[in-house]
This record gives sequence, C-alpha cells and structure tokens, in this order.
Amino acid sequence: MKYFRMPLVGLLSATLLVAGVGTATADDAPQGSARSGTAPLRALADRAGLRIGTAVDMAALADDTAYRRMVGREFDSVTAENVMKWEVVEPARGTYDWSGADELVRFARERGQVVRGHTLVWHSQLPGWLTTGVADGSIGAAELRSILRKHVTTEVKRYKGRIQQWDVVNEVFEEDGSLRDSIWLRELGPSYIADAFRWAHAADPKAKLFLNDYNVEGVNAKSTAYYDLAKRLRAEGVPVQGFGIQGHLAIQYGFPGDVPENLARFARLGMQTAFTEVDVRMILPADAEKLATQAAYFRGLLDACLGSRSCRSFTVWGFTDKYSWVPGVFAGQGAATLTGEDYGRKPAYAAVREGLMEGR
Ligand code: XIL
Repeated sequence: MKYFRMPLVGLLSATLLVAGVGTATADDAPQGSARSGTAPLRALADRAGLRIGTAVDMAALADDTAYRRMVGREFDSVTAENVMKWEVVEPARGTYDWSGADELVRFARERGQVVRGHTLVWHSQLPGWLTTGVADGSIGAAELRSILRKHVTTEVKRYKGRIQQWDVVNEVFEEDGSLRDSIWLRELGPSYIADAFRWAHAADPKAKLFLNDYNVEGVNAKSTAYYDLAKRLRAEGVPVQGFGIQGHLAIQYGFPGDVPENLARFARLGMQTAFTEVDVRMILPADAEKLATQAAYFRGLLDACLGSRSCRSFTVWGFTDKYSWVPGVFAGQGAATLTGEDYGRKPAYAAVREGLMEGR
C-alpha cells in the first residue's frame, strides 16, 4: 500500500513505528539483514533503483565522526549544503575557494557516491562584491552577463565528469508562477535561464541539468510555471533534463496534493525528476503524533518518487536534527529530519526504510 494514496490524517503512528521492526531470521539473507534493520538505506535504495542522498554540512563532516560515518554508510548521493554556492566559491572577485567543494567530491568518490551540484544561479547567497556592484551601478548588464557566464563555466568545468545532476537555476519563480524578481531577471531579462543551461551543458555535456524549487511538489501555479518553462525550453533545444523538487514540508500546512500527477507530467516531457532537499518540519516541541505525521509525509514523497520511473534520486536536506537548517530559519520549528540530535532513528527513518524495502 502506497501511503500517498491514503488520507494522511488517517495514518496511525503505530503503523509507522512498527514499520522498521521485522521478524526476519538470519537465513533469509540478504533480505534478512534489511528486515532486521541493519542494512543501510543506500543498499535498500539500490535495490529499488534509486539514489538516496543527503545534503552535507562540511563542518560537521570534518568534526563529527558519527556524522561522517553515517553520511558514508547510509547515502549514495551527496549535495553540498553550502560549499558550492557562489558566495563560498568566489568570496572576492576572481579569488576562488574550492576547498570545501573539492573535499566533498573527493569524499564521495572514495565511497562510491554521486554528487548533486547545488547551485549555479540563485538570488540568494551571492557574494557581496557582486550584489554591491550591481546595486551601485559599477557592474552593468553586459558585464553581469559575462560574470554569470564565467561563474557557470568555471564551476561546472572544475567538476566535469564528477557531478551527476546540477541545479542550474534555483528558485526562479514566485508562488503565483511569475518569474522571481532578482538581479538576474532585472538586469538580464528572462533569457538568463536558457543561457545558464547552455553554458552549463557546454562545460559538462554529460551532467544532467535541473531546474529546482520549493512548493512545487504538487500541481499548482508555481509547478505549472516550471512545466510550461521546461516544455518551451526543450522545444527550443535548450539542454534542460530535470525538474528538482526541494520538498521542504511542514506538517502544520498539510501534505501537498497531486504529487504523482505532477511527476508524471514532467516524465511525459521526457524529463527526469528528483526530490532534492526533503525535510518535514513541525512546531516544537515534537510529540509522538507529530513524528508519526512527519513519517507519513516523508513516506508520501518517497512513494511518489518510487511510483514514477522519471524519479531516480531522493535527497534529504540533512539527516540529523543536530545540524538541520530549520530552527535557524523558521522560528519555533524543527525536528525536521530522519534522526534526532543524538542520531536516534525517528519514525520517519523507519518509514523511509520501509518504503525503500517495498520498492517500486
Ligand atoms: C540553506 C542551508 O541549509 C543553510 O545552511 C544556509 O544558511 C541557507 O541555505 N533552499 C535551497 C538550499 O536551495 O540551498 C537552502 O539551504 C535551503 C532552501
């Protein structure tokens, strides 16, 4: 039974709490180890034909052995939570810092993990020299376009052959489906999007190039704007291969409708889809009921992915509440990931395991 077909309100915590506890005996290995809860998520995902990923906090990776071990053990895809963003890689104009990104790519290679590149063109986490230059008029439109071209080309080339999927543009639409007001739209007009994809493709023709945004899980004005954009770009021969759905949910807002239908329409365009930043926050304090709802939400997104052949990658935005970005951004909310601050597995972890074990 796929949970996304069920009314989520009706899900009982008990269902999910027992989900990870199996009755298998040692003689039904290799499945036995999965049922008894010892097989890592990546082994289960592999059988389901899915990459299971996490965002990686590079400071935690360096300092926290338990964190580092879990990234390697549980996941076969990694995304830089911050270190591939423009403000990090080019803090001063022409001065690059690739140390964090290089380290992540090396870490992944050693562990047979793929890397999702995140992100090339965004309105946020831009370097100060760039935003200031645009604001004070010292960087005009023509120069801005060549700066953007250089940024995309330099970063994509550096990791050519090592990035499976690139989030080329991130969060370019407003909720109503109009293009987001940003320095890119204001200075360059809407053509910056096609340009970015063409530049990225020229720099690494094998990387799958993605659009990426939040609040686009279901069919709504924003996801429809992406659908229309993707359709038009592909008709024009622009190399856009994927639609990335961040998947930052909150239990107090309800589970999005029409997720399978949304994935299906992008699949019909011949595109890949991916869940790229899944977490499910709640108003603190957490309790058993909220954690059960959270588990059902994780499972709902995972099942939608498993239900679509277009969806081959499911990434969580951190796997422990210890380092989650949520409490710092959404006041009074948190507990958004698969494990607690002590790495103890939450019902959501069991739900994801169970979903992967059921497979497609
Ligand atoms: C967040 C990181 O998790 C934080 O550490 C950082 O301070 C801000 O950015 N959508 C995205 C991600 O595409 O890059 C954001 O990551 C979360 C929302």
